[in-house]
Amino acid sequence: MVASFDAQLACMITLVLGLQFGDEGKGKIVDYLSESSDAVIKFNGGSNAGHTVVTDEGKFKFHLVPSGALRAGEVILGNGMTIDPFLLDQEMNNLSKFKEKINVKISKSAHVVTPMHRYLDQAEETARGSLSIGTTAQGIGPTYEDKYARTGIRIADLSNRGLLEEKIELIYRMKRSLLENSEYASEQNRRAMAEKLYEIGLKLKHLTCDTEIYLNDLANKGKNLLFEGSHGSMLDVDFGTYPFVTSSNTTSGAVSTGSGLSLRRVDRIVGVVKSYMSRVGFGPFPTELPAAEGDRLRTIGNEYGTTTGRPRRVGWLDLVLLKYTIMINDVDSIALTRVDTLGKLERIKIGYEYVLDGKTLDSLPKSNEDLARVSVKYRDFKSWGDLGDDRIREIIGKGFDNLPAELKEYIDFIEQKLGKDVDIISLGEKRSMTLFRKQ
Ligand code: GDP
Ligand code: IMO
Ligand code: MG
Repeated sequence: MVASFDAQLACMITLVLGLQFGDEGKGKIVDYLSESSDAVIKFNGGSNAGHTVVTDEGKFKFHLVPSGALRAGEVILGNGMTIDPFLLDQEMNNLSKFKEKINVKISKSAHVVTPMHRYLDQAEETARGSLSIGTTAQGIGPTYEDKYARTGIRIADLSNRGLLEEKIELIYRMKRSLLENSEYASEQNRRAMAEKLYEIGLKLKHLTCDTEIYLNDLANKGKNLLFEGSHGSMLDVDFGTYPFVTSSNTTSGAVSTGSGLSLRRVDRIVGVVKSYMSRVGFGPFPTELPAAEGDRLRTIGNEYGTTTGRPRRVGWLDLVLLKYTIMINDVDSIALTRVDTLGKLERIKIGYEYVLDGKTLDSLPKSNEDLARVSVKYRDFKSWGDLGDDRIREIIGKGFDNLPAELKEYIDFIEQKLGKDVDIISLGEKRSMTLFRKQ
């Protein structure tokens, strides 16, 4: 059993990330944990991420600003991110209606998503044909492409009009075949886009800095830091179901490259696990539920994308997949979300083993074709029922021992199979509906 979570919270560096295909409830857990954070840091992704946080004050949607922004002293957008500056400005404005002072720092080295990248995202999807990914159309893929092609526009470039224009022309030349039927085929339009980017760059300039230096300084001062991973581990560009993944690393190693703080400084890694699975976009999904059953869970869980509104594919919890993502991330403990949603089903299952061509597999097959072909062994669980707000409040008041026996059995099975403790249990969308397990 790992050391008590809350005892370590006092002064520590924590990383929260999703262990499935995204939308595990990371936003809710980050907001919950951020009460004692001096800074919350994002290190990957962009507005393809969408997080919902629900407090007594209302429902908050986050994309670029970390979900910890409601409570943390300051928030940092690291170099590993791809940032649409117009969207960031809008998101900060929206948030400022609820929080007077949001202390934001943006890495000068983060990459800029331009309207042209958004166009390219859709143009590339069309070009992919049957190999299309089902992206969020936020321009993230093309922006990372430019980053690695060394043609990308960085946040610092926004305040250098000449360089900005030059880079836009360069990207246009490199991707002309995809852009020739778009508004960006016109030089005048490209200049107009450069002008708008320059203006927003000037507006945001005072927030930019070398965040890696700032962050290391905070860590050296013993500040309480919370890293917020975007997406899910199975969407990692290296370890996920490539090519049906996002364009960045979403696993723990990305903390170092995406923020400049060494992963060795991280004290604790919390893996967020939704008590069932969901996936938006294409790609293999071994425990996916067939239409009718899936519809029920999707409706109960309101499983529609925060960013795109697309219906999410849903399925049973998959422990084989979780074993893999726990290994890749070196997870210390688990935050289990949406157990209230799952309890509304009469019949509950957990997938715990894959069989392929009559053989039990030791680990997740890395080929998508095999992953799509596995048959899954399930264990059935009795439902703990629709708990309702009063019972949830009672459980939270009385603690872990007061959980329904059926739910305890469900959690015991997960802990035993994964060899990790479930330290946080989320029983509702509200911040207050969270149970912190004391050991
Ligand atoms: P993220 O991308 O991992 O931050 O997750 P999203 O915010 O995109 O999706 C998770 C959804 O589940 C959001 O609408 C949350 O408000 C909601 N949610 C999170 N935890 C719980 C929970 O324990 N119970 C219920 N009912 N909803 C939850
Ligand atoms: P959060 O942080 C769910 C998925 C997309 C698509 C693939 C590639 O809210 O968990 P992209 O636009 O990144 O090029 O799309 O990745 N995807 C997500 N799915 N939650 C997310 O983020 C996602 N971010 C990307 O649906 O299949
Ligand atoms: Mg989400």
